[in-house]
Amino acid sequence: MGHVCLTPREKSLSMRIAVVGSGYVGLVTGSCFADIGHDVVIVDNDEERLAGLRSGAIPIHERFLPELLARQLGQRIRLSSDLQAAARECDAVFIAVGTPATDSGEADMSYVESVAREIAGALDSYKVVVEKSTVPVYTSQWIRTVMIRNGGRPASFDIASNPEFLREGTAVSDFLYPDRIVVGVENERCAAVLREIYEPLTSGEYYSRADAIPRPDRAQVPPRLIITSTRSAEMIKHASNAFLAMKISFINAVASICESVGANVQQVCEGIGSDSRIGSRFLNPGIGYGGSCFPKDLMAFRAVAKECGYDFRLLDEVIRINEDQRHRFLRKVRSVLWTLRGKRLGVLGLAFKGGTDDIRESPAILLVQELLREGCHISAHDPAAMDRAREVLKSSVVYAAGPYEAAAGADALLILTEWEEFAALDLDRLRKLVKYPIVIDGRNLYDPAIMSAHGFSYYSVGRPATLPEDVTAEIQPDKRQIS
Ligand code: UDX
Repeated sequence: MGHVCLTPREKSLSMRIAVVGSGYVGLVTGSCFADIGHDVVIVDNDEERLAGLRSGAIPIHERFLPELLARQLGQRIRLSSDLQAAARECDAVFIAVGTPATDSGEADMSYVESVAREIAGALDSYKVVVEKSTVPVYTSQWIRTVMIRNGGRPASFDIASNPEFLREGTAVSDFLYPDRIVVGVENERCAAVLREIYEPLTSGEYYSRADAIPRPDRAQVPPRLIITSTRSAEMIKHASNAFLAMKISFINAVASICESVGANVQQVCEGIGSDSRIGSRFLNPGIGYGGSCFPKDLMAFRAVAKECGYDFRLLDEVIRINEDQRHRFLRKVRSVLWTLRGKRLGVLGLAFKGGTDDIRESPAILLVQELLREGCHISAHDPAAMDRAREVLKSSVVYAAGPYEAAAGADALLILTEWEEFAALDLDRLRKLVKYPIVIDGRNLYDPAIMSAHGFSYYSVGRPATLPEDVTAEIQPDKRQIS
């Protein structure tokens, strides 16, 4: 598609953007659009949430988000509960409301539908309506249909799909320094608006600013803008997440075989990841993936495929391996400790991954719940997720003030989340605090040789267990039992 010339007014002014939904995606999107120079209204029907934001309460733990909101709130960001008014005054409306999974695994699109219905009544000039929430293929067509049914004139709006690839914890950097920007559109007029919105990034202008959010090591700037059809953009989102989850399940399966044959998965990863066709990222074995995206998106993608008559059994297997990975870890704990009832376990990590307070579908929480069912006593620490964990685990565990407090008096220490701070513990101090020097690491944060040199029996994922240099009493886990 060629470029459409924008009028001087359009070129000289920043765009006016409404972002509907002040959840994780909406807040990050709105704040980043403001930071690259646009005027943003973040809309939410939850007045309490808006009041909280106005008073500086940020509901999610996300690096750089507090700085951006402090910088832009009241400047280039406004908060509002009036969707129609916001839509009327904006050039583009980004829909970033939730699409939770239904019992059958499909995405519940009712919030998206109700936003589309409301916007339809506010089309006094041409608008681009952009789906940002993770949605199944055909959503843009449905949004269009709903808007027309509710009085929207077809010529007064276009629908675009602009999937986000934000990872929790690094979402602001991911937004501002993306590997690529994917924009799905059906015509050039709409493409021109999206191009203009992302222009501060694609032209490199943002990166030359002194106050730009710092560039992450790996980032290539300026990012590429990929323009596709709306359906392709919708597919790209689901297929990307499914592929990444598949990569994790693949390496977890390889790790299981490594355990049986006595190979070291870390060395295997280095060997296969350095093939540039494969790549080393998302090749870390562990206790399985969790979070608000991978589990939900895989189910939704599988449901979409089924509806189209394709039985995507590869995804069934990715999901099965992921669940099995947790059970294998539990079996490992059992094989190291023999009996679990009454055992006192220190747990490091409750969030679904490091750098976030999110515990949705967290394998750490699921494991803690299983260990509690087995009669263990747990003292857990997480740098950010304890408040959220308390809502689910209540008082069934002791919430320790720090990693050393969690480890004190423990029969074994379990590492369940890949927080950076858990990878840099003072091992001599830890050794003195635990009852028995046993660490079962579900995230491979330590070098086994270093652990044994510090007197620990150390069990990790896909690597041979190591025993303390001066102790022979520890039992090697029975390989058949683990595998
Ligand atoms: C993911 C996608 O990365 C992002 O592009 C999309 O927009 C939303 O979903 P997120 O859920 O924030 O992001 O986390 P991510 O960093 O992808 O990790 C997901 C899960 O996989 C975590 O539980 C993490 O611990 C696990 N993981 C990740 C591994 O077990 N091994 C890896 O190598 C990478």
